[in-house]
Amino acid sequence: MKEYPKIKAGIVGFGRMGEIYLKEIMKSPLWEIRAICDIDPEALQIASRQAPAGTLLTENEMDIFGSQDIDVVILSTLADARKDHLFKAVEYAKHVITEKPIGASIEEENAVLEMVKNSEILVTVNLPLRNAWYHKVIKEFIDSGQIGDLAIIRVCHMTPGLAPGEGHWAEGPLFHDCGLHYVDIARWYAQSEFKTWNAQGIKMWNYQEPWWLQVHGTFENGIVFDVTQGHVYGQLAKDLTHNGYVDLIGTKGIARMSHNYITATVELHGVSKTQVVKKPFGDKNLDILLHLFARSLTEGRRDPSLPKVEDAAIASAYAWKFLESAAGNEMPVRGDLETLEEIKERRNNKRIGYGLLRKKKIIE
Ligand SMILES: NC(=O)c1ccc[n+]([C@@H]2O[C@H](COP(=O)([O-])OP(=O)(O)OC[C@H]3O[C@@H](n4cnc5c(N)ncnc54)[C@H](O)[C@@H]3O)[C@@H](O)[C@H]2O)c1
Repeated sequence: MKEYPKIKAGIVGFGRMGEIYLKEIMKSPLWEIRAICDIDPEALQIASRQAPAGTLLTENEMDIFGSQDIDVVILSTLADARKDHLFKAVEYAKHVITEKPIGASIEEENAVLEMVKNSEILVTVNLPLRNAWYHKVIKEFIDSGQIGDLAIIRVCHMTPGLAPGEGHWAEGPLFHDCGLHYVDIARWYAQSEFKTWNAQGIKMWNYQEPWWLQVHGTFENGIVFDVTQGHVYGQLAKDLTHNGYVDLIGTKGIARMSHNYITATVELHGVSKTQVVKKPFGDKNLDILLHLFARSLTEGRRDPSLPKVEDAAIASAYAWKFLESAAGNEMPVRGDLETLEEIKERRNNKRIGYGLLRKKKIIE
């Protein structure tokens, strides 16, 4: 096999995601880390304990964008810096792997989309579900005709995760921050555009925004869907649990997946085949994203399974539309802010919960 020089990367934003990128880059034979930028000196201190000797640690992003020594910039700050960084990447001709969302508002995302479309750089967005083995297995099963015509897409993701006020303020309400992944995967299965929708939210613990939302509706091609997403799932239970699944219902058979964050289980019930597949969950699948990106760069041809900026922008726009729909409906309140304080205390001080941000980052 032809050998290529390693791809030289710089990470901008070294929080929870930045750390995961660094770990995966250090494991990969195709990549090497050259620089890490964060505006928070403590984040750089953490980076200094993890990054290989010789990695430039800097508070000045221009040490990365302006460097001749860096091929790819990884953008893992919060969304408020994203548009500026993506514009800089185009200006300085750096290829980009970016976190979602690609801007802090629809206007910013549209501006980014235009800018990137007219540029020569390779850009992908981390939409990890698109690289998950279980979704690929299910899609292949559907495409083989085993469930007849796909008719109903059901997606659910409920965990005792990120609580209101803990961080990610620039990403918008939870259904936008996290929910857009599930909006995206429903659209990926349907291979069609959303046509109609109606959403229901609830203001859990009397917080100002819904921390649980369910939307259902139709796609242009007649497939119907429901997406349920919330981080309201038993944060104060003695033993924590979650509920994550997809259920794909066809005119003849079904395919479904559930996971426990360690193992994902796919159950396929087709007209001539029944199959159960269990494999490691994979979580953020950054190893796959880095591999696809490296291969696309070295071969000079974009791998078709690399998530597109446009897909991220569409998922984000619909997540906002579904939140708008929920806001136009009755939005009841259950619980009180005292319970929310108890939840934050347990998550932040006792460090019990899913998706904990680094302690320093928690806004008290
Ligand atoms: N794709 C996914 O599955 C997934 C999962 C979690 C988070 N995310 C996204 O990743 C991004 C980061 O999330 P996180 O959980 O790592 O957040 P975080 O708060 O842990 O980290 C963000 C880091 O960026 C730094 N930062 C902020 N502005 C900066 C700037 N202008 N220049 C340099 N550094 C800057 C902060 O100091 C912080 O260290 C968010 O946009 C979030 O939406 C995506």
